[in-house]
Amino acid sequence: MRVEDTQPPHAERPIRALPGSAAVEIIDQRWLPHELRLVQLQDVNSVTTAIGDMWVRGAPLIGATAAFGIALQARHDASDAALAAATAQLQQARPTAVNLAWALRRMARVWRPLPPAARAAATWAEAQAIAAEDLAVNAAIGRTGLPILQALAAQRAAVGSGPLQVLTHCNAGWLATVGWGTATAPIYMAHALGLKLHVWVDETRPRNQGASLTAWELGRAGVPHTVVADNAGGHLMQQRQVDLVIVGCDRVTARGDVCNKIGTYLKALAAHDNGVPFYVAMPTSTLDLSLDDGLAEIPIEERSAREVTHLTGRDAAGQLVEVQVTPDGAAAANPAFDVTPARLVTGLITERGLVAAQADALRRLQPGAAAEGPST
Ligand code: MRU
Repeated sequence: MRVEDTQPPHAERPIRALPGSAAVEIIDQRWLPHELRLVQLQDVNSVTTAIGDMWVRGAPLIGATAAFGIALQARHDASDAALAAATAQLQQARPTAVNLAWALRRMARVWRPLPPAARAAATWAEAQAIAAEDLAVNAAIGRTGLPILQALAAQRAAVGSGPLQVLTHCNAGWLATVGWGTATAPIYMAHALGLKLHVWVDETRPRNQGASLTAWELGRAGVPHTVVADNAGGHLMQQRQVDLVIVGCDRVTARGDVCNKIGTYLKALAAHDNGVPFYVAMPTSTLDLSLDDGLAEIPIEERSAREVTHLTGRDAAGQLVEVQVTPDGAAAANPAFDVTPARLVTGLITERGLVAAQADALRRLQPGAAAEGPST
């Protein structure tokens, strides 16, 4: 099989436009891995809730879902005031992933110049275009990342045996996008092409997107993997059991600082200390050239303390139960993202090629879509 012939390893879509343009269907990810539950969203309020309460999550999927939120609003009331209010409401649903603002800006460029009567059809078409492009962008990220995996697998084969060992954090898989995933796209392609690999999946407390979502995806695709506690990564790297780390990102600044799920920074530090390559899969829609110093400037979402003090899972009878893991009344803090300084990033795997986490390289990459072609 050639890489061009590989297909996303999933028939479902995390978001799907329904015929008639009156609703979108999403996978309600709060129920995974125990249940694949589909939900229809028909208005901007339900879209805002779905983003804020993480029925959908992952930077690219947040952006695509917000775009449909604008299109759904345009069906009901396409006035300037109504669409501006919908944009403001969606914008505050989650603060960190810049794909949200990117998608809303792109939608505004479509609806603003049009008379209200033309806005519903045009915004629906644009939201569909954003979704379709995300799939193409992620396939391109896969093609950029594949040779990196193949080269590291060849290095491993030269000194010993066993599969290529990849470590990932959180879920930057197909559930976080419209399809393929970002960090997972090269993994899925390599697996489809017969490369022997194994993925260490960080559980990713507090919400466990690794344990519940990435493990679910990889398992369904037949990709060998092992879930590890978040704190295991450093040890695995010291034991030479990790050939590379690949993670996704929620916002990358002009100088290459990478904001991603809380705990990513510690993995990058451990990778640096152990000489393990640390790659970030980045669609250019996640690049925020308006910011420079990620630590000082990126807004970090603070989520409910209950995500830390409690855990949800399935009991022996198959029922979903929530249990408390901290003493009654214990204070808990829940910063949802952290910033990995550019100096710890080996490279950014983008739809336009492998890019250094450096200002000059990133300035040449304007945020945009795959259709715009490679930057020169
Ligand atoms: O809080 P989440 O689940 O939305 O966080 C997701 C991540 O941090 C992902 O790594 C990131 O959004 C990239 S998804 C391709």
